[in-house]
Amino acid sequence: MTTQTMTISCSIAEQMERTSWIRRMFEIGIQLRKERGASNVFDFSLGNPDVEPPAAVIEALRRVVAENRPHTHGYMPNAGFPGVRAAIAGRLAERTGLPFTLDDILMTAGAAGAINTVLKAVLDPGDEVIVLNPYFPEYRFYIENHCGRVVPVETGPDFQPDIARIAAAITPRTKALILNSPNNPTGVVYSADVLRALDRIIPEPVLVISDEPYRPLTFDGLTPPETLPLLRRAVLAWSWSKAMAIPGERIGYLAIPPRLPEAAELRNACTFANRILGYINAPAIWQLVVAQAPDAAIDVAPYQARRDLLCDALTSMGYDAPRPQGTFYVFPKTPIPDDVAFIRMLQAEGILAVPGAGFGRSGYMRLSLTIPLDSIERSLPGFERAIRNCQ
Ligand SMILES: Cc1ncc(COP(=O)(O)O)c(C=O)c1O
Repeated sequence: MTTQTMTISCSIAEQMERTSWIRRMFEIGIQLRKERGASNVFDFSLGNPDVEPPAAVIEALRRVVAENRPHTHGYMPNAGFPGVRAAIAGRLAERTGLPFTLDDILMTAGAAGAINTVLKAVLDPGDEVIVLNPYFPEYRFYIENHCGRVVPVETGPDFQPDIARIAAAITPRTKALILNSPNNPTGVVYSADVLRALDRIIPEPVLVISDEPYRPLTFDGLTPPETLPLLRRAVLAWSWSKAMAIPGERIGYLAIPPRLPEAAELRNACTFANRILGYINAPAIWQLVVAQAPDAAIDVAPYQARRDLLCDALTSMGYDAPRPQGTFYVFPKTPIPDDVAFIRMLQAEGILAVPGAGFGRSGYMRLSLTIPLDSIERSLPGFERAIRNCQ
């Protein structure tokens, strides 16, 4: 327990106490680096892209700064620059076949900003939001930010959504379901059939918040099915954080399909929520940059090479480590059911990983592929010793 003064609210103190394992690993990493030297610590814990943004993005940034158009830095409509939103809407209309216009696009501070904005707009205290277990742990805080109640629903085999379980979890208090494909932490991409089946069981007024920051990060040439045409109640929380390796710039958008019967009131509510949450509007310069190169994405080849090296090596050692279809995470089973105990064994080898318990699924661990290939190579004997110690 931390000691608490009267200043900090009980709810924040309690949330910080159970805050994500990812951050805790970060602190353990600092300690391990002091003890073992940085080159002998293999940090698979943080999902912070270690590749540089695509050249097209840096060129667009240079152009925007060089142009220095009047009013670039001022307040703007809370939803973002109209020209930027029109460009994004046009691109999204091409991709999805849905008639998006600029009115349907709200520029946000990344996916986190988009999800918080829509949750703020739809939740009354005690309303329920379904998340599919295992799930990105920040969702719990986002939902609790707006006094919602988290309802975790287990996924089925291969971590695909379990439609019957989801249907059984929907109550009159359910306001939203957060969907994330390609998925953090499992690396799974949801199939079109699963999305169609989900569409059949989502009643009004439940919204599906489709959180898709990893969409361009898929392997073996796989293209994930478009969510919006398949799920009539879906809104899109998009982010360029991972696609362009720019998570520090905080840029993304919320797209509200015009065919939603409540589209007009929802976008007004979301625009207002974006404002009063204190975002006001998404970063101005970065709106202009992404509008110039909306489809620029990092090369996934380095992540794929790391995935292949790590998954093949772990599998040959006896780990159950399926290859992810997308994202930059691998989600193997831990050789013993107590994932937290196994993570400690890995730490003794200088390896940092996040226990599955941090995502709501014990007996697994998440390894982030955001470290260089040669570090992965050098970490392998440690993984081998750790599994041998369990046998
Ligand atoms: C599944 C998922 N959703 C949302 C986010 C937040 O991303 P952003 O930087 O776009 O806010 C992340 C970041 O790691 C994530 O993994």
